[in-house]
Amino acid sequence: MGLLAETTLKKIRAEIAYYPHARGALLYALHAAREDAGGLSREVYAELAPLFGMPVREMAEVASFYSLFTQPRARAVFQVCTNLSCCLRGARDIVRTLEHRLGIKPGSATPDGRFALCEVECLGSCSTAPVVQVNRNPYLENVTPEFIATLTESPERALEASRPAPVASTIPDGVEGYLLPPNGQRWLTVEDYRRNGGYQAILKAATMAPKEIADLVKTAGLRGRGGAGFVTGLKWTFMPPRDQRPRYLAVNGDESEPGTFKDREIMQRNPHLILEGIMIASLAIEANAAFIYVRGEYVEPYRIVRRAIEESYAAGILGDNALGFNRRFDIHIQPGAGAYICGEESGMLESMEGKKGQPRKRPPFPAQFGLWGQPTTVDNIETVSHVPAIIARGAEWFQRGGAPNSGGHTLFGVSGHVKRPGVFELPLGVNMRDVIYRYAGGLEDGRTIKAVIPGGVSMPVVRGDQIDVAMDHESLKRVNTLLGTAGVIVLDDRSCMVRAAMVVAHFFKYESCGQCTQCREGTGWIYQMLARIEGGKGHREDLQALADCTRFMEAKCICALADGAAWAASAFLRQFRSEFESHIDAGRCPFEESFEA
Ligand SMILES: Cc1cc2nc3c(=O)[nH]c(=O)nc-3n(C[C@H](O)[C@H](O)[C@H](O)COP(=O)(O)O)c2cc1C
Ligand code: SF4
Ligand code: FES
Repeated sequence: MGLLAETTLKKIRAEIAYYPHARGALLYALHAAREDAGGLSREVYAELAPLFGMPVREMAEVASFYSLFTQPRARAVFQVCTNLSCCLRGARDIVRTLEHRLGIKPGSATPDGRFALCEVECLGSCSTAPVVQVNRNPYLENVTPEFIATLTESPERALEASRPAPVASTIPDGVEGYLLPPNGQRWLTVEDYRRNGGYQAILKAATMAPKEIADLVKTAGLRGRGGAGFVTGLKWTFMPPRDQRPRYLAVNGDESEPGTFKDREIMQRNPHLILEGIMIASLAIEANAAFIYVRGEYVEPYRIVRRAIEESYAAGILGDNALGFNRRFDIHIQPGAGAYICGEESGMLESMEGKKGQPRKRPPFPAQFGLWGQPTTVDNIETVSHVPAIIARGAEWFQRGGAPNSGGHTLFGVSGHVKRPGVFELPLGVNMRDVIYRYAGGLEDGRTIKAVIPGGVSMPVVRGDQIDVAMDHESLKRVNTLLGTAGVIVLDDRSCMVRAAMVVAHFFKYESCGQCTQCREGTGWIYQMLARIEGGKGHREDLQALADCTRFMEAKCICALADGAAWAASAFLRQFRSEFESHIDAGRCPFEESFEA
């Protein structure tokens, strides 16, 4: 008898049927097998291999790329986020408490196999920091050392624990929202969504020609919300003329950059908005099917969207003769398995094909050679969620709701040293000071802002005296930064900037996929130099070496992870050079009240 239950194998076979190639279901299968067998092993791979027609060795190699498949084995695995927003709110106390109670160091398991402890990179819930995940359970949010200590009584206690936070996303007064449901509501069913005007825009879009839809979205000024801000309608026109080949839409819900946690809110509160946006985008690019890729840690959002998809098939919105259009419409959802680089569009395509998520060299671009080699467009989850409102209310309305060159609202995620961290639906072009003080409640009394990272940690940091700036793609360039994912991290006057730079650098070092020498080595060197300076062992020459290293990484690699790592480090050095120098001169970190890293 094999290690895997027949029910698990049946589930995996059913999943394979959704894909043109079996390996599309590989990560799903590895998750299911790991849960069933308690871990992945040669024997487990051997049982799965015939289903995927791949050698055991190759399957083991793919699995080894993903952090969720390489964690130590134990009944209850504590995964504590130690990236920046969580460190700013006490993640180190959580790690220390667990180390003390379990008697182990991060990266290891107790000898009896009951518990394991891991430090992980951002879990995508930065406003409810500190955040812990036990196995693949829903997140434990706003965790305290006292609470986490109670979970070490037994693995069962840890596995049953629940600590949800209140709804983290809001439409502030005076804003007419169209992404989030109002008043903390969740529109999870087709009926909820339809009652609130849903699935009307797709009916209108179905009367339009594909080019007409793309032109409207282009005129509206919708720019991608995945980080790069590319004009969405224009991207859609890059698809080649229709021929006999299948065409795909790949929807990016990998959301793993520290400070970024907004796609999760749409998935958890308005999943049918995503599906309607996907259907309209699919009409525009004439796609046969869409696949949504959601980071592996987002177990709840994955379940909610999957349920919404199933319900849509049952309601005749998807499937044969979808909505009576006399054509088939398919959407399916895939889980990732813990790798930031799978958010980079070509890394995501590789991962969706059941491979290691290593970015591809371009050209060819996805529109020419995408998912399974077919023409593909990649859009972010939030990006497609704007589309129903554009179709329903027009390009002019959308433009008016944002800033010049950056139409519409966006979901600003604010975390770090603010009183009311959360996600706020606001027009692009809103002032950064207002985002922080008016919507996120400002800082604790008596504290001032030292630094703000405006759009996820790969975006250059700005100083506290630069926050009177409109938050849109063009205006932020005036203070030498970019909007990125609009994930705003606020650091107060007590914070050590070398330490912050070091935590960010650790992220890039950990997440580099290792294909390019400049990135693989450069991210490691940056981290080592920053750790040395923070530890009081730095030299003045290190500052030049650091600047040289970032220059040697920029615009030289296969993907933009290396650029993000370089921009982040060089901006900290440029904006806060005197802090770097005072570490070196004093031979220690001079910020005694700073957050712990
Ligand atoms: C290292 C790296 C990580 C990325 N992670 C994400 C991500 O998690 N989600 C996302 O939508 N885009 C991410 N992107 C951007 C994507 O490559 C791509 O531009 C985006 O998904 C396109 O969608 P959009 O035009 O709607 O923004 C990442 C890019 C890089 C270089
Ligand atoms: S730049 Fe870094 S993450 Fe991107 S492909 Fe090269 S090594 Fe991988
Ligand atoms: S959840 Fe911890 S930094 Fe994002």
